[in-house]
Amino acid sequence: MSASEIDAADEVMCTCSGTTRGQIYDLVMQGKDIDAISRWTGAKTGCGGCEWDIEVFVRALTELPSS
Ligand code: FES
Repeated sequence: MSASEIDAADEVMCTCSGTTRGQIYDLVMQGKDIDAISRWTGAKTGCGGCEWDIEVFVRALTELPSS
């Protein structure tokens, strides 16, 4: 894993809950949808300011072509 990938994983996407990009990535890889991720992490349950960013990120991950 490169330094930039580690930095990206540590990036906080939801400041209200402290949920990082890496946490969301791991949950998506476990098959969790946005609602489940929100329940697990508390993301999107505060101010809602992260909602768009998280939805775009999750959609990009789930729409990746499987190899
Ligand atoms: S930043 Fe995610 S709910 Fe406020």
